[in-house]
Amino acid sequence: MRIMLILGTICAIFSAGSEVIDFDGKSSLLYRFVKNTRSPVKDVISLKFKTMQNDGILFHREGRSGDGVTLELVQGKLFLLVSSGDVATPSPSGPGSALGSLLDDQQWHSVLLEHSGQHVNLTVDGRSRQFRAWGDLSHKDLDPEISFGGILAPGKPVTFQRKNFDGCLENVNFNGEDIIDLAKQDVPQVLITGTVSFSCSRPQTMPVTFLSAGSHLALPGIPGHDGASVSFQFQTWNSAGLLLSSWPQQGSRRLLLTLSDGALRLGLSSSPGQAQSDVTAGAGLNDGQWHLVSLTVKGNQLSVTVDHNQAATIHAALPVETPAGVAYRFGGCLPPSSGPECESSLGGFQGCLRLISINAQEVDLISVQQGMLGNFSNLQIDSCGILDRCLPNHCEHGGRCSQTWTAFYCDCTSTGYAGATCHHSLYEQSCEAYKHRGSPSGLYHIDPDGSGPLEPFPAFCNMTDVPWTVLRHNGSAFTRVKGADWESPHRAVFQYTASPEQLLATIGRARHCQQELEFHCRRFRLWDTRDGTPLSWWVGRANEMHTYWGGSLPDAQKCPCGVVGTCINSRYHCNCDAGWDEW
Ligand SMILES: *[C@@H]1O[C@H](CO)[C@@H](O)[C@H](O)[C@H]1NC(C)=O
Ligand SMILES: *[C@@H]1O[C@H](CO)[C@@H](O)[C@H](O)[C@H]1NC(C)=O
Ligand SMILES: *[C@@H]1O[C@H](CO)[C@@H](O)[C@H](O)[C@H]1NC(C)=O
Ligand SMILES: *[C@@H]1O[C@H](CO)[C@@H](O)[C@H](O)[C@H]1NC(C)=O
Repeated sequence: MRIMLILGTICAIFSAGSEVIDFDGKSSLLYRFVKNTRSPVKDVISLKFKTMQNDGILFHREGRSGDGVTLELVQGKLFLLVSSGDVATPSPSGPGSALGSLLDDQQWHSVLLEHSGQHVNLTVDGRSRQFRAWGDLSHKDLDPEISFGGILAPGKPVTFQRKNFDGCLENVNFNGEDIIDLAKQDVPQVLITGTVSFSCSRPQTMPVTFLSAGSHLALPGIPGHDGASVSFQFQTWNSAGLLLSSWPQQGSRRLLLTLSDGALRLGLSSSPGQAQSDVTAGAGLNDGQWHLVSLTVKGNQLSVTVDHNQAATIHAALPVETPAGVAYRFGGCLPPSSGPECESSLGGFQGCLRLISINAQEVDLISVQQGMLGNFSNLQIDSCGILDRCLPNHCEHGGRCSQTWTAFYCDCTSTGYAGATCHHSLYEQSCEAYKHRGSPSGLYHIDPDGSGPLEPFPAFCNMTDVPWTVLRHNGSAFTRVKGADWESPHRAVFQYTASPEQLLATIGRARHCQQELEFHCRRFRLWDTRDGTPLSWWVGRANEMHTYWGGSLPDAQKCPCGVVGTCINSRYHCNCDAGWDEW
């Protein structure tokens, strides 16, 4: 099968009035503004970026005593780093703080950061996330300067060293100022280090997508004087697949480069599928990032390197011949005659390739697309169709998401939920449900809202006729209090094994709910007898005050003995008030 696709627009067309700046990965721009001239209530930074590098700093603001705000591209995702106080190295502000994914795809992406005091809103390609800084990062605490493309804070100690941005920025706006326009005018407030240019004219590299297991790209080898070399970058989520095989003449050995368990495996075989003397390189290469592979054949040595790391080499018994006419086949099935889905387990690369070079000559994919070079099936030339199926994360209740080219999976281990998206609770919603299952009294996990957001928690189920759900707290032991008064009151805090939300959900499902607070006293007044001011109380879940204790009634201002009239001294409504020396 052949699919021809019309070439997409390679050059981005800028709307009138747009300004661009190109950073080469070593340069940066610092903008210094006059402090408090306009005293903005909030700072607003907006820009667009385009890059093929997965790491780099977009902008940075430095504050007093090492505070700062940094927006950084890490592994193709945007992270907002807020360093505060004496924290020397900033850490991503918690898991899930990343926005976007696969942003190193040479397409324009928009960023909007609004920042007011502790509140930060970050919007990437229209998707917003709210952050809360630990300290107050208002414009009063931040230096009146901002650097783009890297961290440039002259006169300040460099708190951390990160990669500079390598790519283009467009329409950089800081609180209404057009920064690129100011840089072009060479105003003194703008300081540029390194080399920048005011156009984004780098050649766009053309990726190619291997859409199905049967997708392949066959390219003729270029006979070299001294061995041969092949290099390319690949990007995939699949942990296994056939990346490259040589297409030899009858009788010669076949070179096989496969991905297996996320590592590269290089082998030399005599018959298809039978790898002899293979070596592995790299690990976790199915992480959706671009990885650079280079393969060299020299004499009887066959070597592979991944991402510039040390080479893994095969020493063959005989020299590995690279005769003219040898072709390279990327992806596809073995044997090559099998259909769109590979028959043998070895085969089927799904992902993207770019920057393919054979003997140091970059392969022109346009010629391939036009049928003038090699041949292919089921490819999408000129774009990479990779998707991040874990963004947004459809795994519920904290399940970990992983993916292949075609699907995502949730690892629900230790979440208390199961199912494809960790949606179904492993636990019953109440003790009653456990009783229906015939379970005896004991400690159970209950999940009062089932698949809802509340996590399951442990509770004691007392399987009487109508079962009781007993929720414990850490204050059930008697605490002896001596000599508390208005100036130094005694305060007891109870911590339940369930959160307030979990307690409310449990109470909401119950027909009857009770708790008992016992207060034993001797020579103690519960109320000031003169004006009835309570001297002891407890605080309910809505923060309301209650002055009665176990067995009494709200607002009775009496102990149980006062309610039923059995107090030792009928003049008092409580035995504690009566001045007796007994509990
Ligand atoms: C962030 O967004 C929310 C909701 O749109 C808005 O109420 C809030 O004012 C924004 N905060 C800032 C600092 O812009
Ligand atoms: C193109 O495919 C044909 C078979 O479909 C094959 O014989 C030929 O060698 C291929 N060309 C290259 C350059 O690989
Ligand atoms: C269970 O309930 C019964 C009857 O109310 C009670 O006697 C017993 O103490 C309870 N058991 C526990 C462990 O709470
Ligand atoms: C219960 O635990 C909380 C939080 O750890 C603590 O503040 C409180 O003092 C504890 N209460 C008792 C009565 O031990």
